[in-house]
Amino acid sequence: WAGAACLTLFLLIVGVSAFAMGDQPPSHMETIDPEKVVVTAPFDKPGLTRVGEKQYEAVMLAQAFTYTPSKMSVPKGSTVHFKVTSTDVVHGFEIPATNVNMMVTPGYVSKISYTFKKPGKYLILCNEYCGAGHQVMAVTLEVT
Ligand code: CUA
Repeated sequence: WAGAACLTLFLLIVGVSAFAMGDQPPSHMETIDPEKVVVTAPFDKPGLTRVGEKQYEAVMLAQAFTYTPSKMSVPKGSTVHFKVTSTDVVHGFEIPATNVNMMVTPGYVSKISYTFKKPGKYLILCNEYCGAGHQVMAVTLEVT
């Protein structure tokens, strides 16, 4: 009886928060109208720019379910200053095996810098559940 009572209570809480209070997963968030989102500089022209000796700035846009630009390449030993924002929902920004790991939130600019000492293909992936295509949200950064 205690188990059945707990289950009923939990289902009631989930039901009320979902249907009466509108607590839905991010893929159901419709608070942002994609037609009305204004993408201001520098995010209107995302891309990789050389800003100094082995210094690069990567201006990136996270949108369900990819990042722009989707391919970048820098020489070994370069420091990349990432500036990332989102036009829709909260996304993640992680480069496995590095300390690059941040949340990308609409309306905010997330920044992080990292020096790529080893050559190779680095995966940039989303680690925040952002909807039906979350698992395919990844791009690559090549260090040559
Ligand atoms: Cu974007 Cu998960």
